[in-house]
Amino acid sequence: MHDEPTTRLPRGETSGAAVELEGVRRSFGGTPVLDGLDLRITEGAITTVLGPSGTGKSVLLKHIMGLLEPDEGRVRVFDQDIWQLRESERRALRTRFGVLFQDGALFGSMNLFDNVAFPLRRHTQLDEDEIEEKVMARLREVGLESSLGKAPNEISGGMRKRAGFARALIMEPEILLFDEPDSGLDPVRTSLLNDLVLSIHGEQGGTYVLVTHDIHTARKVSDDVGVLHEGRLVHFGPAAEAFDSGDAFVRQFLNGESDGPLGMD
Ligand SMILES: Nc1ncnc2c1ncn2[C@@H]1O[C@H](COP(=O)(O)OP(=O)(O)O)[C@@H](O)[C@H]1O
Ligand SMILES: [Mg+2]
Repeated sequence: MHDEPTTRLPRGETSGAAVELEGVRRSFGGTPVLDGLDLRITEGAITTVLGPSGTGKSVLLKHIMGLLEPDEGRVRVFDQDIWQLRESERRALRTRFGVLFQDGALFGSMNLFDNVAFPLRRHTQLDEDEIEEKVMARLREVGLESSLGKAPNEISGGMRKRAGFARALIMEPEILLFDEPDSGLDPVRTSLLNDLVLSIHGEQGGTYVLVTHDIHTARKVSDDVGVLHEGRLVHFGPAAEAFDSGDAFVRQFLNGESDGPLGMD
């Protein structure tokens, strides 16, 4: 948990929601994955959603950025109902998102520089000098400037995550989504990545949504934390309440207990 944001408005004075989900339902092959989910992501905050694997965390992120359409319910991004927009408007709205995918999703055939430069080359008219300046600034931020010529398979998992983070930031997104940034990392590298997430958020602000199965990550970075269970948030609120007061759902999740409000059915 962190409490000294430099760019964030104090809680209660934030301008509002960056993203709101209301009664979102989504099934695959008749099996409900999201089952009437409500979620309000405060603009400028770091919101974490905790859930074990297979609970629908990636599906949730895809709904937030309009890559999946709910069967029922609404998704609003900056007060716009994304499924009421024209396709071109929805595409424009998606450019306000950055995503750090679970596996980093780097292009294996490109070195780190070209991976981070890719969105700029694809979506902007910047010349190569301007691109180099931006890419180097991002690589420096994540501590990879000396590895710019390396291919993804020549670096460690932690470095790949950082490279993915640099690429997710390159278009200066207003909302950054992290899909299990800690998966596959050892505890020390997870902790270092969480520090990096906090320091970059502290410097640059923005709305971060992070899904994870790792309670330590949630504890460290969250302003707000939700617990996803059976397609709904069974707990949602400020991290201090969740962790300090030992909310029953969070406590059960934290301790991996079978005894508690979370059941099998
Ligand atoms: N495109 C899809 N088609 C069919 N089933 C899917 C699809 N995406 C996700 N699912 C199913 O939805 C459930 C939740 O998946 P996911 O969001 O990837 O879980 P998590 O990210 O929490 O591990 C899983 O049972 C998965 O098989
Ligand atoms: Mg996932």
